[in-house]
Amino acid sequence: MKIIAYGIRDDEMPYLKEWSKEKGIEVKAVAALLDDSTVDQAKGYDGAVVYQQKPYTASVLDKLASFGIKSLSLRNVGVDNVDADAIKRNDIKVTNVPAYSPSAIAELAVTQLMRLLRQTNTFDRKIAHGDLRWAPTIAKELDQMTVGVIATGRIGRKVINICRGFGAKIIGYDVYHNPELEKDGIYVDTLDELYAKADVITVHSPATKENEHMLNDAAFGKMKDGVFIINAARGVLVDTDALIRALDSGKVAGAALDVYEDEVGIFNTDFGSFDAIPDERLKNLIKRENVLVTPHVAFYTETAVKNMVQYALNSNVNLIEKGSDDSQVKF
Ligand code: COI
Repeated sequence: MKIIAYGIRDDEMPYLKEWSKEKGIEVKAVAALLDDSTVDQAKGYDGAVVYQQKPYTASVLDKLASFGIKSLSLRNVGVDNVDADAIKRNDIKVTNVPAYSPSAIAELAVTQLMRLLRQTNTFDRKIAHGDLRWAPTIAKELDQMTVGVIATGRIGRKVINICRGFGAKIIGYDVYHNPELEKDGIYVDTLDELYAKADVITVHSPATKENEHMLNDAAFGKMKDGVFIINAARGVLVDTDALIRALDSGKVAGAALDVYEDEVGIFNTDFGSFDAIPDERLKNLIKRENVLVTPHVAFYTETAVKNMVQYALNSNVNLIEKGSDDSQVKF
């Protein structure tokens, strides 16, 4: 058996080599992403392991299938960039890694929330100018706040546990109710109820056609004045223009964004200077003291990266050998 792995970064290599040695399975590591210019390298392999934020297009998927590659394993959770029609048409089996490390995402979400509440960004900027005064940079305590968690899957539940440790009151919204959380009575019936009650709103849903721009002008209008918004899930969940309006009006007191709707081609790129970042809207957000932008790094921990590589390779082997895997994605 031979597997090709696309988009392999240097930090993934040791985990890939360790797996390959342990399993005795040949894995060809390719630094380039899977696209029309690189897909031919997959000829002769039994399966492909991939990670990229740019689209897996129909033409690339058709080509893979024409080489007999019907086993595609993503090293991440989100599958929103995969052409579903081409997957179905070619009968390609796809796996993702649904739980490489829920803690990785949850810990960054809460870290940034705490930074917003304690205004560390403002203190950093004041101190850089020699201003070591306290006022007017007074903080809020999470202990006194209600955190509204949208989507209570693995990541949402980690966030809930961490916030509970800080003494926060938790409310949650999800179509699927987790039995334990249901017992605790955390669920509200509607998003509107969550918007009306939460001091902090943190989203942990996958992106679907239905929830694109769920946090829009109408949603912000229903929230408490001075709400804090955390998005470490998918950029498209937040209508960026509406968020900017809500920040300008003071409706939103602060936002932590690890994702951004136009991030592809921008995040994980070195532009050399702040001015050279080719996105004025993003720069508008970054310049604000009460907005914390990180370039989609919530996942980027040693634990998560190891799991992403090795779980994806395990799944790919299952697809090749058995034609199925527990992490198979339905399109
Ligand atoms: C995902 O797993 O879908 C992520 O968002 C993390 C990705 C940047 C590797």
